[in-house]
Amino acid sequence: MEVVITSSPDEIGRLGAEAVVQLVSRKPDAVLGLATGSSPVGLYDHLARRVREGEISLRQCSAFLLDEYVGLPEGHPERYRTVIERDFVSKVDIPSAAVSGPDGLAIDIPEACAAYEQAIEDAGGVDLQILGIGSDGHIAFNEPGSSLASRTRIKALTSQTRIDNARFFGGDLEEVPTLSLTQGIGTIMDARHLVLIASGAHKAEAMRNAIEGPVSAMCPGSVVQLHPHVTVILDEAAAVDLTFASYYREAWAAKPKWQGF
Ligand code: GLP
Repeated sequence: MEVVITSSPDEIGRLGAEAVVQLVSRKPDAVLGLATGSSPVGLYDHLARRVREGEISLRQCSAFLLDEYVGLPEGHPERYRTVIERDFVSKVDIPSAAVSGPDGLAIDIPEACAAYEQAIEDAGGVDLQILGIGSDGHIAFNEPGSSLASRTRIKALTSQTRIDNARFFGGDLEEVPTLSLTQGIGTIMDARHLVLIASGAHKAEAMRNAIEGPVSAMCPGSVVQLHPHVTVILDEAAAVDLTFASYYREAWAAKPKWQGF
């Protein structure tokens, strides 16, 4: 696990985008795993700039969303499929049709979840999965207690997550759905490279538990410790509780240039 402590949220975005650029440069038809929420917005903006400047193209890429609210109507501004269109697809050159998300409006939810797993498999699996983390340690919508082997399924949100996400719904908790469809932790772990990003003091506890705590279903983010290729990028505020911070800084400073992400 590589832990990179940066000076600012903008630097998180720059480095995260660099990881994607390095991948797409060697594999133009890469399969990307996309996260929603505020954490990846800077990364998407940096990526958009590099696409605009003609450095890379995502035209041949495809992408899968981590999760989706259940029941938000098509076109709802906070439906994750809409959010990703706004935050990512509209800014880069990936075809909109090449981006998929779990179907939060499906009548047969177990079938929709199985179909989503199949679609990821048919695409050859995710090459690089961008991950944020919830203040309660969740990744995607895998809340504490989620099976570390779980696959895409329906999952109830904790009240903490609903409170955290109410800011996207005009602060109205009642408007935040209670159910989601989410890639399972096992699904996420199948991606070939995980890039976990976090900024701000409100993520410090979750990041300490994820990176340095025991691997536990009580902190779903801690499962990244079992993955062979993980890049964690966080800012000083989110890194404040890390015991081993000075070593992470030394290792980053000593990293050979040829190694890349
Ligand atoms: C949300 C999403 C996650 C996201 C996390 C953190 O509920 N389902 O995929 O990583 O919570 O969100 P944010 O980046 O806005 O803090």
